Amino acid sequence: MDSSPDSKQTISRRQVFGAIWGVSLVALVGQFGGALFQFFKPQIAAGGFGSKVIAGKPKEFKVNTVSYVQEGRFYISRLEDGGILALWQRCTHLGCTVPWVDAENRFHCPCHGSIFDSQGLVTAGPAPRPLDLYPATVVNNELI
Ligand code: FES
Repeated sequence: MDSSPDSKQTISRRQVFGAIWGVSLVALVGQFGGALFQFFKPQIAAGGFGSKVIAGKPKEFKVNTVSYVQEGRFYISRLEDGGILALWQRCTHLGCTVPWVDAENRFHCPCHGSIFDSQGLVTAGPAPRPLDLYPATVVNNELI
């Protein structure tokens, strides 16, 4: 190791500012990457919309009734033959939320008047296709 005064290393002011800029740039890119990751990461909470939802016990849904399941934003339609349909609440026309109207015994879209029966089939209006269905299964006496 050379200990002469000429070999002494010095750091210039330019190098210090360059290092500060470099560290700042790395921090900025890191924050931007983290924010981008959070933005695109699926936000699916267990038991909420987009995940498997326990709707209840099958016997809770009486034959010829339609029940709303808030957690999943869908309807459970219990058919006369005992079958069960899980119908998404969105109208297939332009996406309005379609309420089940007990007095009419059908889904009636408030936006443009599409009408769907208890199986989600279009009976009137501009909707091009039936209400979308979710897969529904019974596991351990729970409708999922
Ligand atoms: Fe339902 Fe248009 S959005 S009929």
